[in-house]
Amino acid sequence: MARHEMTGNEMSGEHSGGMERHTYDVVVVGAGGAGLRAAIAAHDAGARTAIVCKSLLGKAHTVMAEGGIAAAMGNRWPEDNWEVHFRDTMRGGKMLNNWRMAQLHAQEAPERVMELEDWGALFDRTDDGLISQRDFGGHRYARLAHVGDRTGLEMIRTLQQRAVQLGIDVFMECTVTDLLKDGDKVSGAFGYWRETGRFVTFEAPSVILATGGIGKSFKVTSNSWEYTGDGHALALRAGASLINMEFVQFHPTGMVWPPSVKGLLVTESVRGDGGILKNSEGERFMFDYIPEYFKSETADTVEEADRWYDDKANNRRPPELLPRDEVARAINSEIKAGRGSPHGGIYLDIASRRSPEFIRKRLPSMYHQFKELADVDITAEPMEIGPTCHYVMGGVEVDPDTEVTAVPGLYAVGECSGGMHGSNRLGGNSLSDLLVFGRRAGEAAASYAAGLGGNRPAVAPADVKAAEVSALAPFELEGGENPYSIQGDLQQSMNDLVGIIRTAEELERSLEEIEAFKVRAAAMAVEGHRQYNPGWHLALDLRNMLVVSECIAKAALARQESRGGHTRDDFPGPNDEEWGVKNLIVTLNDQGTGVDLHEKPLPVMPDELKRYFEPAAAESPADSKEGK
Ligand code: FUM
Repeated sequence: MARHEMTGNEMSGEHSGGMERHTYDVVVVGAGGAGLRAAIAAHDAGARTAIVCKSLLGKAHTVMAEGGIAAAMGNRWPEDNWEVHFRDTMRGGKMLNNWRMAQLHAQEAPERVMELEDWGALFDRTDDGLISQRDFGGHRYARLAHVGDRTGLEMIRTLQQRAVQLGIDVFMECTVTDLLKDGDKVSGAFGYWRETGRFVTFEAPSVILATGGIGKSFKVTSNSWEYTGDGHALALRAGASLINMEFVQFHPTGMVWPPSVKGLLVTESVRGDGGILKNSEGERFMFDYIPEYFKSETADTVEEADRWYDDKANNRRPPELLPRDEVARAINSEIKAGRGSPHGGIYLDIASRRSPEFIRKRLPSMYHQFKELADVDITAEPMEIGPTCHYVMGGVEVDPDTEVTAVPGLYAVGECSGGMHGSNRLGGNSLSDLLVFGRRAGEAAASYAAGLGGNRPAVAPADVKAAEVSALAPFELEGGENPYSIQGDLQQSMNDLVGIIRTAEELERSLEEIEAFKVRAAAMAVEGHRQYNPGWHLALDLRNMLVVSECIAKAALARQESRGGHTRDDFPGPNDEEWGVKNLIVTLNDQGTGVDLHEKPLPVMPDELKRYFEPAAAESPADSKEGK
């Protein structure tokens, strides 16, 4: 595909200064699953739509959601339904989720999966020819629609093909550095071509942020170079707010060896398909880490755990399939207690539990990944794994129905939006999230743009000039520090001080270090010129990484309890009375030099949904529904 895919609906022009300029109704920033789904919806709603992405089309963290799309289709367990999925999701997020988002997500996910199949996605099948669904942590029933262990890849392939087929314009390897506004409204976006370094302006009354996560702020991560919190930072600078930023998901299973692939994801499907965790003493240690909160639904004997795969009604889930925050913390404790593997992980074993044929069929990518990268045959020996920073639950605060932010015309979807997953996301819920809310955002953004008629917000030349000056600032200094050393130090600092287990003392130190990184970044210099200059690109990304890291550390220091993806050694356990009732919101401070925190009460859940969390409904919300 050409770097810029031109189609009939594009409108181009030139500023008087000669800068490239395009005009659309809806501009989507980011081309992972959320961005693609949003663009398709906006296009289908009649909007002139473009996608702008900093990487190549198809290269997105969506492919790292390998195990499947969570949707209560009931193909393997007819007892499954949206209410059970809603309840699992809320409990997985320890009730901090925006209930309306969790409800819409559970209700609409099955339709979004069927639509994906209509568009050409080739799912694995059950014996009856239905879409196959597999088990995952925190889900009561097997509900992840999957394609082996390459589901995210198949999703991207399908959505990308559809977007191209529809003729949606795609600007690849083009990074957005600033949002443009007219008064309080968004009027477009400003960015640069990574290859030439030339600037480009997009005029559009609706901009949808779909830039993914923040993983690159941490040293050990499943995220690749693109994930520098761009959407989070763009939204903050444009006047929007972020929510739940203290909650960062450490996926329990990343590769630990060899060093070159440390952090690379090992899909939860390995455990979903029967894999178990063992320490260096050969103990299946997860039985020692079942928290009170999940006791009633977790098996406490090996026999019961093993029966669960075939009989959900009479058995409880294996402890390896507790939500990710619980499993990651347990692994971390075992390693710290000196019961780790030779390379600082613990063991994940499927070889002793499933046949080589089963493993190769269900987990083909994992089989090849370990064979080729670590020379380990997972059909014959255990894997060494450890936690890796995978996902941020926190993101741009949005309206649950339309995904609009506090800034008119600005929308956010997928990982860069917040609220849906509360304090911890269940595996598989990211792919369904981006389909459900991508579609909603695309439709809402198109409708908003159409409703403006001739009153579209304008792009002010002075704002474009200011964005240009700001982007070129790293060239202005001579002899300053190079951005790579600052990035390396930030990643190490976040890993050490804002990781799985946190304390006030470490978080305070982290905030001091972030301030020092900011000072260093203000004096950093890049060499060379604007043509493909990765040092310059990183200098611009670093601004985003720093502000997002500050949001995480500040919110983590404020939340004096442990919940989901936020564990405080000095405040063990949740404090429902004080902290289970509110979210932390982050905004940019008045000077634009840092961030402020605010508390906001949780939206009130209606009574008809509250009943799914009453003790009588705990065993089976489906039954409780039938009783009404
Ligand atoms: O483990 C996995 O396959 C990841 C899935 C997800 O993050 O949803």
